[in-house]
Amino acid sequence: MHPFLRFLGLAALAAAALPGAEPAAPAAPDPIKVGEFASLTGKEAAFGQSSHKGTLLAIEELNTTGGVLGRPLELLTEDNQSKPGESATIAKKLLSRDHVVALLGEVASGRSLEAAPIAQSLKVPMITPASTNKRVTEMGSYIFRVCFIDPFQGTVMAKFARHTLKLQKVALLTSVSSPYSVDLAKYFRETFTALGGTVVLEQKYSEGDKDFKAQLTAIKAAGVDGIFVPGYYTEAALIAKQARELELTGPLFGGDGWEAPQLIEIGGKAMEGTYFSTHYSAENAAPAVKGFVKKFRSRFANETPDAMAALGYDSVMILAAAIRHAGTTDAGKVRAALAATKDFDGVTGRTTIDSHRNATKSAVVLTVQDGHFKFIETIAP
Ligand code: PHE
Repeated sequence: MHPFLRFLGLAALAAAALPGAEPAAPAAPDPIKVGEFASLTGKEAAFGQSSHKGTLLAIEELNTTGGVLGRPLELLTEDNQSKPGESATIAKKLLSRDHVVALLGEVASGRSLEAAPIAQSLKVPMITPASTNKRVTEMGSYIFRVCFIDPFQGTVMAKFARHTLKLQKVALLTSVSSPYSVDLAKYFRETFTALGGTVVLEQKYSEGDKDFKAQLTAIKAAGVDGIFVPGYYTEAALIAKQARELELTGPLFGGDGWEAPQLIEIGGKAMEGTYFSTHYSAENAAPAVKGFVKKFRSRFANETPDAMAALGYDSVMILAAAIRHAGTTDAGKVRAALAATKDFDGVTGRTTIDSHRNATKSAVVLTVQDGHFKFIETIAP
């Protein structure tokens, strides 16, 4: 019997056994409230919608199998509209008004950096599924992530550029208003240079920019073999289009911020033969991935889950496991259980939380071929 039904059934029997007592309305167990903040609309809506779907799927799955500690999970989702400044306000609301037991979010590092100090000061665990900037978990002992960090991702793409693409001279095109972009560029440069390559020049832009002709003209004049664009999908796609218009022919490549269907929708043919690193590939034949892809597709109109969806799903499952281990929703005890997470088998691989509250995991490199993402290789830490 379903555990909740059993609970309700026993309550009804107990009430009926009391002579003369009105059969009391059976009390359902209190839900465990989990807060989620995400960019459901606005510039990075693809990130928020995807991570939200993965998160929701995990919550629903847990609830159909009895919830956690015999209680259902209740997901409270707030949209920050991809806007700077919103995430802190939302975090305050979810924590102080709704008293969620944990915060899930964000995908973009800049927005995780806004909310983390609030979760830390109120001592409620926050788990970012996909923010890779190193500083996010440095905000304090209550801040966790279930993905790799950018010092690793920068190294992955530097090695790929140097060893696989055999590039000697590259340009960087960095978004100065995104902490993710600035730091990923830095880590890429360190390894690429250490491997004997040269970063000939670094050009800059800001989130929301649409015209990159000036930067690309300077890059063309400098003469490089390829361009590293550590940004998000909207700008990356526009940059690729404009680079091809200027007849810059060398490979363009980036990091996980490129992963969204919009990359190809906006960039079209210009995206062919570009590369980026990310967390997971839906083409992976591992049973855990196959099962997840199948469940996700049947829940969400045949959509194939991407990295954010997979990480969103894993973040919920890791939180649920921590609450179970803690045996309580007490924030301090859940925090300790999260910190002790070891060899958690998820959709995005095996997660062990290290002493800096980060996860050490493999990266994958994807390319765009015939208008689709294609798996190239897996790179272990
Ligand atoms: N890693 C990016 C950041 O920290 C966000 C991201 C994760 C984007 C996964 C796409 C896929 O800002």
